[in-house]
Amino acid sequence: MCAFAISDTVYCVHADIQTSDLFEGIWSIKDGVSLNSYVVKGEKIAFIDLVKDWKEAPQQIGEALASIGIEFAAIDYLILNHIEPDHTGWLKEFRALNPHCEILSTDKGCKLVKSFYKIEAGVRAVKDGDMLDLGKGQILTFIEAPNVHWPETMFTWHEASGTLFPCDAFGSFGALGDRVFDDTFTDEERAFFEKETIRYYANIVSSFSLFVEKAVQKVKHLDIQCIAPSHGIVWRKNPQKIIDLYSTYASYAKGPADKEIAVIWSSMYGNTKAGLDAVIRGIEAEGVPYTIHRVPDEDASYILADAWKSSALVIAMPTYEYAMFPPMAYIIDLFKRKHLFGKTVLRIGSFGWIGGAKKEYEAAIDPLKWTSLESREWAGFPSQEDLADLEKSGRQLAQIVKHR
Ligand code: FEO
Repeated sequence: MCAFAISDTVYCVHADIQTSDLFEGIWSIKDGVSLNSYVVKGEKIAFIDLVKDWKEAPQQIGEALASIGIEFAAIDYLILNHIEPDHTGWLKEFRALNPHCEILSTDKGCKLVKSFYKIEAGVRAVKDGDMLDLGKGQILTFIEAPNVHWPETMFTWHEASGTLFPCDAFGSFGALGDRVFDDTFTDEERAFFEKETIRYYANIVSSFSLFVEKAVQKVKHLDIQCIAPSHGIVWRKNPQKIIDLYSTYASYAKGPADKEIAVIWSSMYGNTKAGLDAVIRGIEAEGVPYTIHRVPDEDASYILADAWKSSALVIAMPTYEYAMFPPMAYIIDLFKRKHLFGKTVLRIGSFGWIGGAKKEYEAAIDPLKWTSLESREWAGFPSQEDLADLEKSGRQLAQIVKHR
């Protein structure tokens, strides 16, 4: 790994994590994730956001630092925008290598440094608008951005280069390899990162969309030349692109999203699937794009991403033991936890002896403020009449999406 110059005093150093581990212990990172840290050099050296000891991340960062002639021991200030352990897990080891470095974070951040790492000495709380002068005209300003996505979060702003360091905000999944800047990736690669950005947003940030919007408003007046997040691409050519993407994703929390449908389905013996096929015929007849995900076969992380960006959902599941099919109950619960509000939804499903999924489902979605089309349920295999009704429901849902 080498360091990447953002300006003559600002550098990105990153570690690529390729692993079968789950991010936060929940989310797939089958295409990896990057942990980005940053160096700002004046007379003093500041280091922004650390890593955890994960797939040799500290060694990768150490190599990148060495490429610009800096050792961990030479760092004067460690700025922690956010204390989640992907950015702080190596703090105790770092402190052992560099006992003199001052650690800066928000007041809440300093409390977490104490509770997570039992470190109190040499830790200083900074407030919104505070500045850190590194000498030689290199000044950092701290901007509190609470709940993006933890309460202690802040951004760091380097006016001389126009670089904003927002930690998790404006980040994405996906390993970077030997490039970091937006203008060094092909259109196809950028499209991959865009998909990984919405997945990251839906998985990590979506519950805090209101705070994302507040944070975007708060930095709007800055002359931003570069967005330097702690995961994913560094946006130096078109920083507005990632700001706009995040603003758009945040807006989905309030209502209609893209004109597409996320079809999420489970089937035990093919009866619910037969009904779903009729719904899909209806959607296809209207020409509305859709994504399709089988539960529990597919990773919830990807389902959540497509559901977040779709205006409408089809939820197809059989009744299981007089209630919802259990893996689908988990997905519905995840939708509640991630504030998947404002969707238009068609729920369908087969039952054996008697239904039950409908009742539990309707109680479960109550807080989500969805607009529900009439639920369609049938006993066993769908009749010709059921299939005709289901196709009609698919068309109706697609027409709503098309004309919204
Ligand atoms: Fe990348 Fe919330 O940590």
